Amino acid sequence: MSKKILVLPGDGIGPEIVAQAKKVLNVLQADGLDVTLDEAPLGGAAYDQYGSPYPEFTQKLAREADAILLGAVGGPQYDQLDRPLRPERGLLAIRKDLNLFANLRPAILYPELANASTLKPEVVSGLDILIVRELTGDIYFGQPRGIRINEHGEREGFNTMVYAESEIRRIAHVAFQAAQKRNKKLCSVDKANVLEATEFWKEIVIDVAKEYPDVTLSHMYVDNAAMQLVRNPKQFDVVVTGNIFGDILSDQASMLTGSIGMLPSASLDQNNKGLYEPSHGSAPDIAGKNVANPLATILSLAMMLRYSFNDEAAAQRVENAVKAVLAKGLRTADIYEAGTEKVSCSAMGDAVVAAL
Ligand code: IPM
Ligand code: MG
Repeated sequence: MSKKILVLPGDGIGPEIVAQAKKVLNVLQADGLDVTLDEAPLGGAAYDQYGSPYPEFTQKLAREADAILLGAVGGPQYDQLDRPLRPERGLLAIRKDLNLFANLRPAILYPELANASTLKPEVVSGLDILIVRELTGDIYFGQPRGIRINEHGEREGFNTMVYAESEIRRIAHVAFQAAQKRNKKLCSVDKANVLEATEFWKEIVIDVAKEYPDVTLSHMYVDNAAMQLVRNPKQFDVVVTGNIFGDILSDQASMLTGSIGMLPSASLDQNNKGLYEPSHGSAPDIAGKNVANPLATILSLAMMLRYSFNDEAAAQRVENAVKAVLAKGLRTADIYEAGTEKVSCSAMGDAVVAAL
């Protein structure tokens, strides 16, 4: 039976970059990939159409889908909305609703882009890190939360950092198994010297490690990890961490590679149903100008083929096409440098299709 892909173009540059990934998908379909495509709004686009950032229309299709391809959500026109109506809440809601607890964020430096990083080429060349970020727990979802008047009559904001044992165990398993398929090194990032929630995290990760004797486990405080990521990033293979630390460290890791416009991500449930999206945001400043980099979205499609459809050959075919266009010297504005050829978003999509 054919698999169902739900496409969520979202906001800002979302529709432009998703359109390029769809071109790639159409080629794969013509070559026999048995999938059907549906489309729905998420984020600001969904608020505009249905008055909610994750409306029932989208929820129903998302629950039925085998995999989801998302562009990006958010835009300044939505910043004044009540918090529950903001685009970001749509993204958090779909992650939670579908139980997409395992967020895989690879940071790979393509040799052609070694000069695009702000770090010295010798520090980043050959970089290949996988950040495994827990995505449905932590301070992002912990209760209680809010803004209230405290006992001194002063207003205060508060959130709760909390991790249940089962939440830590399942993400630890994902991370250890990912490490087993790579260089068998896992670094768990915490703030166990200050925060009980992450002291507990560390304890559980150490316990899960007993099941993976072939993987070398290390631990690092998040402040040190932030420093080590720019000092000597190649010391890392797989990094596992909670939701908020992973949010921050994955943005940082992305810049080691020169452009956040290159980085895909996968958010998976227990059965490898996944939501695939570029790691970057909706970039409202360049939306509609046909200058955005579609490669992270196209590489997210490759991750979908790999993780949700178990089609390694097709995943590599897409990844090799991306490498081929980089080798040809084609660059969108974000990765442009002298001596290369600057192309538009749609031209980049066409080039990947040609390279397929
Ligand atoms: C990300 C983003 C989201 C997050 C926002 C848009 C809610 O920064 O996917 O990293 O914080 O998880
Ligand atoms: Mg983020």
